[in-house]
Amino acid sequence: MTEPIIELRDLSFRYYASKQDALKSINMKIFPGEWVAVIGPNGSGKSTMAKIINGLLIPSQGQVWIKGQLLNETTVWQARRSVGMVFQNPDNQFVGATVEDDVAFGLENNGIERDEMVGRIHSALKEVRMDAFLTKEPARLSGGQKQRVALAGIIALRPDVIILDEATAMLDPLGRAEVIQVVRKIKDQFNLTVISITHDIDEAALADRIFVMEQGRLVKQDQPSDIFALGQDLIKAGLDIPFTWKLKEALKARGVEIPEQIQSEEALLSWISQSYLSK
Ligand SMILES: Nc1ncnc2c1ncn2[C@@H]1O[C@H](COP(=O)(O)OP(=O)(O)OP(=O)(O)O)[C@@H](O)[C@H]1O
Ligand SMILES: [Mg+2]
Repeated sequence: MTEPIIELRDLSFRYYASKQDALKSINMKIFPGEWVAVIGPNGSGKSTMAKIINGLLIPSQGQVWIKGQLLNETTVWQARRSVGMVFQNPDNQFVGATVEDDVAFGLENNGIERDEMVGRIHSALKEVRMDAFLTKEPARLSGGQKQRVALAGIIALRPDVIILDEATAMLDPLGRAEVIQVVRKIKDQFNLTVISITHDIDEAALADRIFVMEQGRLVKQDQPSDIFALGQDLIKAGLDIPFTWKLKEALKARGVEIPEQIQSEEALLSWISQSYLSK
C-alpha cells in the first residue's frame, strides 16, 4: 500500500493560556497526489492544524509525519521546504518590493545558488502566468495576482504539498477562478498533494476527499458526493449545499433519473442538454 505523504497521529494542541484544546486527538492520513479539502465552522481548528503540519506550532500531544519522517526540531526545515502554505490575506503574503524579489525571498532563505535562483524565479512565475509582472510592485496587483505570486514563491521551492488556508476567500470570483485554475495546473504538473481549507463549496467539490472538522475534532472523512449528501448537516459544518446537488435532488424528486457519476455543474448541464434539449 502507498505510504501517506502526511500523517497525523493522535494529534492534540492547546494554545498557551487557553482552557481548552484547539485540536483533539486527530488521526489523519493524506496520500501522495491527493487533493483534500478541510471544512468546518469558524474556530474548529483548521488553521491550527495547517500551522502544525507546517511546523509553525508544536503539538501538545501526538505526532506529525511528513514523507515518512517525524516532524521535530531537526526535520522542521526540511518539512517547511516540502510543505508550502498560502494564507487568506493576499496583502500579508508579500515580503518583496517587487514580484521577482518576492519569489526570490524563499529561495534565498533556502540557500539556493544565484544562477539557479534566476531560472527558478522565471519558470515559477511563468507557471502561474505572472511572468509579465516580474518588476511590478505588489500594490499594482489584484488579489488573485498576489495569490498567484505567493504560489510561485512556493513552487520555486519544489514542494511536495501545498496547503491553501482559505487562499481564495478574499478574492472576487474571477481572482478565485484564476487561482484555482493555477493550482489545478501545477498540481498535475508537479504531482503535488493539495490540502485546501475552505468554506467554498465549489472548491471543496474539487477534492478527492473531504475532511470535516468540528470543535477541534475530525468528525468525518469521505468523498465529496457522500459529504454533500449530508444535506442540512453541511450547513452546520460551515458549507452551503452545492447548487448542482440541490438541482439533482429537485430533479430526482420529480422522477428524473440522473446517473450517479454526474457531480459537477458542467457535467449536469451537458447531461440535461443531451437528454432533453436535443430531442
Ligand atoms: N493565537 C491563538 N491563541 C489562542 N487561541 C487561539 C489562537 N488562534 C486560534 N485560537 C483558538 O483555537 C481554536 C481553533 O482556531 P482556528 O483558527 O484553528 O480555527 P479555524 O477552523 O481555522 O477557524 P476559521 O474558519 O475562522 O479560520 C478557536 O477556538 C480559536 O479561538
Ligand atoms: Mg482558519
